[in-house]
Amino acid sequence: MKNVTLNNGVEMPLIGYGTYQIPGRKTTEYVLRAIRAGYRLIDTAQYYGNEAGVGEAIRESGLPRANFFVTTKVQTSGYEATKQGLDQSLQRFNGDYFDLVLIHWPTGDDLATYRALEEAYQEGKTRAIGLSNFNAPQVQSIIDNASVKPVIDQIETHLCWQQKRMAHFLRDHQLVHEAYAPLGEGQLGMLDLPILKTIGQKYGKTPAQVTLRFLVQEGIVVIPKTLSANHLVDNLNIFDFALSAAEMTALQALDQHQAIDGWPESMNENNY
Ligand SMILES: NC(=O)c1ccc[n+]([C@@H]2O[C@H](COP(=O)([O-])OP(=O)(O)OC[C@H]3O[C@@H](n4cnc5c(N)ncnc54)[C@H](OP(=O)(O)O)[C@@H]3O)[C@@H](O)[C@H]2O)c1
Repeated sequence: MKNVTLNNGVEMPLIGYGTYQIPGRKTTEYVLRAIRAGYRLIDTAQYYGNEAGVGEAIRESGLPRANFFVTTKVQTSGYEATKQGLDQSLQRFNGDYFDLVLIHWPTGDDLATYRALEEAYQEGKTRAIGLSNFNAPQVQSIIDNASVKPVIDQIETHLCWQQKRMAHFLRDHQLVHEAYAPLGEGQLGMLDLPILKTIGQKYGKTPAQVTLRFLVQEGIVVIPKTLSANHLVDNLNIFDFALSAAEMTALQALDQHQAIDGWPESMNENNY
């Protein structure tokens, strides 16, 4: 497993397991299977309703909590609601701390929301804090007002929307770029692109593996979701080959600035 170092010195795996739309009652089973396949970064959220199942899977794995990197996301707005909500998340997770807590999406009261995250960080309830679905001016506003710098922005990123402007901005400000929906949620025909098959044949890899390799080779953290046992293993096996400079350029040229469903509107590149 390869890691990336966050701007506060904490190490985070470059690939993790996404749990969006995995129902609460199924989460323990799927996350435990992911842990047994080798995943250590698990991405959950208050919104997904499955923080409890993630905590249960970690306990059932029998591995030390310190071996894992668990991200959750708050969906509350403002200081008090976020402070209380985060304590409830910890209770559901049944643990002392998260590794990363993100504001799931901008709400307008983000400075107050972020203040609750800073406090949680200072109290040891999370090892790092960051943002999700924040465009460049929104990230800048947090940085300008923060006492604890955000470490990451988790944003929709895949071959059809590579977020090069955001990548540049985040790199300049020492924030890690994390890709959600790295496989385009299986939509936009992305995994059927002939070039992925051609490159994949050269390395004995699937289109999904080539896609994930492309993103991590760009320094982007990926959190693909799968319910398939085979895909689960495939998605981790992307560190035994490297794409050539020409292949990277060819894949970069596939960018269409195309979001899956255009949410949130503020991330649209014409809006910042
Ligand atoms: N911060 C946010 O607002 C936000 C928003 C969306 C998502 N997320 C996070 O990002 C994670 C990933 O995003 P996502 O779940 O929306 O989409 P995704 O990971 O891009 O795509 C999931 C789809 O890809 C398929 N797939 C996975 N591995 C494959 C493989 N090796 N070959 C072929 N198909 C494969 C899956 O089907 P199978 O089950 O058949 O493999 C599933 O249909 C989420 O689970 C969540 O943790 C965050």
